[in-house]
Amino acid sequence: MGDGAGANGTMILGIETSCDETAAAVVTADGQVLSSIVASQAEIHARYGGVVPEVASRRHLELIGPVIREALAGAGSGSGPGRVTLGDITRVGVTCGPGLIGALLVGLSAAKAIAWSRSIPLVPVDHLQGHVASLYLGPTPVEPPFVCLLASGGHTQLLAVRRHGSFERLGTTLDDAAGEAFDKGARLLGLPYPGGAEIDALARQGNSEAFRFPVARVPGLDFSFSGVKTSLLYAVRDLGDAGLAERRADLAASYQRAIVRALTQRLRQAAETAGIERLAVVGGVAANTELRAALPDAALAPLSLCTDNAAMIASAARFTDPLPPAEALVLDAYASAA
Ligand code: KG4
Ligand code: ZN
Repeated sequence: MGDGAGANGTMILGIETSCDETAAAVVTADGQVLSSIVASQAEIHARYGGVVPEVASRRHLELIGPVIREALAGAGSGSGPGRVTLGDITRVGVTCGPGLIGALLVGLSAAKAIAWSRSIPLVPVDHLQGHVASLYLGPTPVEPPFVCLLASGGHTQLLAVRRHGSFERLGTTLDDAAGEAFDKGARLLGLPYPGGAEIDALARQGNSEAFRFPVARVPGLDFSFSGVKTSLLYAVRDLGDAGLAERRADLAASYQRAIVRALTQRLRQAAETAGIERLAVVGGVAANTELRAALPDAALAPLSLCTDNAAMIASAARFTDPLPPAEALVLDAYASAA
């Protein structure tokens, strides 16, 4: 092993297969990303308009070996250490949930096999803790305390993060997640899956004041995106095919504006409630251009670490205790958040 590993020679292999990205990464103890490989299945699922769980599991099975090999090979190139092999890995972190059970089990089985065969510790990682831990990676890690908006395809939560490895949930969505609202909105606009990035791109050519879509008034620090989605549905219906073709960019811009407004308002309110000044945003929706621009004072995960990846999982594994060997092989996956 070369000398580019972490302070105490730790090299963590992260594995992530909770949805439709097969990902592996090598991260050092001090949070330096030596490699991060993400094989997206988005194209395969696009023809169905969303992720098909059984198709995702099969594709994970095909990809997991090559993706891990590529992560190891990548960790040993560039400015990192010399050749890296499984023998250099000192800890394996793997996503156990929440996510699609069949998909999670593929990553979990691979992680168990590596940990068992090399006699190295296995660390179970919660996907949401993983997204938060994307902020702890180099070159400019963010340190707690901060209030974090976690906005992805499956979750929209406000978290008070006071120390590494834990958080207090302040609010959540009562219906759709923000990413889901983007994806469903894109579908109504006739844009391909996954729709967040498509709406983001189209919105740049549109007028965000053209349509008035509502920001739901929900008590406390929770969110609701079903109303804005229904408003878009009615607007699309009223316009008809020709009108939709003409106004698509305006609709995208106005719809995006309503979602971003809901997210930013609630994030600032959460910071006030928690008495924490620093703001942060993680998850796939954190890649959104308008959201990033609306929060110039917030810590934002780098674009490559917003959507699902394994570097964030390896990062979280730095702050979670490994399982005793007897418990590692019986570790199970879970579908929804505890
Ligand atoms: O974190 P992520 O990769 O997976 C989950 O854990 O769900 O988030 C994926 C979500 C999708 O709903 C996708 O449409 C959304 O993030 N997304 C975006 C953008 N890029 C990805 N939403 C808005 N603007 C974007 N640029
Ligand atoms: Zn995610």
